[in-house]
Amino acid sequence: MSEVSLIGMGAMGSAFARALLRGGAGVTVWNRTRAKADLFAGAGAFVAPSVAAAVGASPVVVVCISDYVATRERLDTEEVRAVLAGKILVQLTTGSPQDARELEAWAGAQGADYLDGAVMATPNQIGRRDAPIFLSGSETAFRQSERVLDLIAGKLMFMGSRVGAASAWDLAVLSYIFGAMLGCFHGVRVCEQEDLRIDLFNNMIGDIGPVIGEMVMGEAQAIQEGAYGAPESALKTCAASSEVMLRHARESGINSEFPAFLAGLLRKGVATGLGEERLATIIKVLRQ
Ligand SMILES: NC(=O)c1ccc[n+]([C@@H]2O[C@H](COP(=O)([O-])OP(=O)(O)OC[C@H]3O[C@@H](n4cnc5c(N)ncnc54)[C@H](OP(=O)(O)O)[C@@H]3O)[C@@H](O)[C@H]2O)c1
Repeated sequence: MSEVSLIGMGAMGSAFARALLRGGAGVTVWNRTRAKADLFAGAGAFVAPSVAAAVGASPVVVVCISDYVATRERLDTEEVRAVLAGKILVQLTTGSPQDARELEAWAGAQGADYLDGAVMATPNQIGRRDAPIFLSGSETAFRQSERVLDLIAGKLMFMGSRVGAASAWDLAVLSYIFGAMLGCFHGVRVCEQEDLRIDLFNNMIGDIGPVIGEMVMGEAQAIQEGAYGAPESALKTCAASSEVMLRHARESGINSEFPAFLAGLLRKGVATGLGEERLATIIKVLRQ
């Protein structure tokens, strides 16, 4: 028996394997394309010949493959069901809260305890204290697997027993990250079009990061408190800036999808009569 079995040796599963082996854990690995799993044999991992053998080899089974459909395809077989009872199944594949609820119900029907998780890190960041892994579901399973999962995660965060919580957190944070990224990429196009240096833009993003962070938190706090009055920067002012962004994109012929989306949303807020309130008031449009 090993302490933990890993199903999936893609970029992320391989990072988990490296972290676990560094931490001295007994590890079993399985991957659909066996060559990727074989890379870890020399480092002391047991390479299982099948998913059922991997599941049978450890009390804790961590899955990290492309999606939940592939997960069910691999786990929902007679051989795997026969060895799953009594195991702790930890799903670290990216999915939705509904995916988590469905897999929890299925795992429960097989007699397994279930944890759903989401990785807020790239493979290179695995093990860093500022790159958390969110987990939710069975608290007993969390306590029993905490020692081994702690070797994978620099920062393990149990988000409660509602199993969809981890992926909901993941989606909320990803929304923020991708929203910021998209804005950054449009900014790069503006720089390219206007002959500005992208490295300087990049440095600028780093420099203003903390101030922007404060601004975003201030808007989120306004939503939390339902306090949209006395704006320093009213929605109508932000909407006007977004129209300039859109006009610039059209005038210069660069892609205008990002400013068009932004301006469209803010315009809707102004048309609804929210123009004198702070930017966070746009949440009322999103809630409609
Ligand atoms: N990479 C990141 O930065 C990152 C960050 C956070 C979360 N994640 C999540 O981690 C999960 C894995 O991502 P990754 O970066 O490791 O992807 P990846 O490098 O593309 O690896 C995908 C893995 O899924 C396996 N797979 C795909 N379809 C399968 C199937 N039908 N049956 C069995 N195995 C199958 C692949 O096996 P083969 O090797 O045989 O193709 C491989 O092990 C995803 O849900 C991703 O969203 C990734």
